Amino acid sequence: MSRKSAAELGLDKAYATEGPEANRELYASWAATYESGFIVDSGYVYHQEVVKVFCDGSSELSGPVLDVGCGTGVIGGELAKLGVSVIDGIDISPEMLAEAAAKNHHGRPVYRQLIEADLTGRTELADNAYVGVVSSGAFTHGILGPETISELLRAARPGARFALGINSAHFEKFGFDQWLEQRRSDGHIAKLEFKLRPIYGDVDEDDPNQWTRIAVFAAA
Ligand SMILES: C[S@@+](CC[C@H](N)C(=O)[O-])C[C@H]1O[C@@H](n2cnc3c(N)ncnc32)[C@H](O)[C@@H]1O
Repeated sequence: MSRKSAAELGLDKAYATEGPEANRELYASWAATYESGFIVDSGYVYHQEVVKVFCDGSSELSGPVLDVGCGTGVIGGELAKLGVSVIDGIDISPEMLAEAAAKNHHGRPVYRQLIEADLTGRTELADNAYVGVVSSGAFTHGILGPETISELLRAARPGARFALGINSAHFEKFGFDQWLEQRRSDGHIAKLEFKLRPIYGDVDEDDPNQWTRIAVFAAA
């Protein structure tokens, strides 16, 4: 991570924020400076790592991809660069979504559709809509737990590819591995694997908050 402290980067406040309402408030005040004051200053590479794992050498997809907790749209920007052309974003914060709406690639909006919704509950996402589901920074302290994955599976087509970044400390605390393993043995998902990747360009090896476990699997 950068030489700035977690407090200077806004991380202390983010990790202390719990639940949808508090997150809506936090991101309303953070949206305008999130990229210049956090992504750049921290050396954040999380979105790039998730996209690399998701595309795994091929960006050929036969349908739309959903960016979960899309924020200002940094994942969408990376997917668009690789030629993924139909991307929807979903997030609780209208201010973060407004930043994502302003993102363009070769003069076209990066996102086809931006959906304001609380992902801790049932959303208006259609059944069987997506061939891919990606996320960076949303499966973390005080935001989304494993239960949200059930809602995402409802919106995914059979065979849809998932690459969900999960903060490593949060992963341990909520037992994402057991939760996902259970879905695998119940037949809801297949081809489950976890990829350990850095969240920042320069990471402390021993700090789980600086690492992500990217859960990669297919909807069954
Ligand atoms: C750390 S940011 C990550 C944004 C982006 N994916 C990135 O990597 O920069 C977390 C995002 O989760 C969103 N969020 C927080 N609580 C949420 C909820 N209950 N439902 C949907 N989105 C939520 C926030 O508004 C914020 O945009």
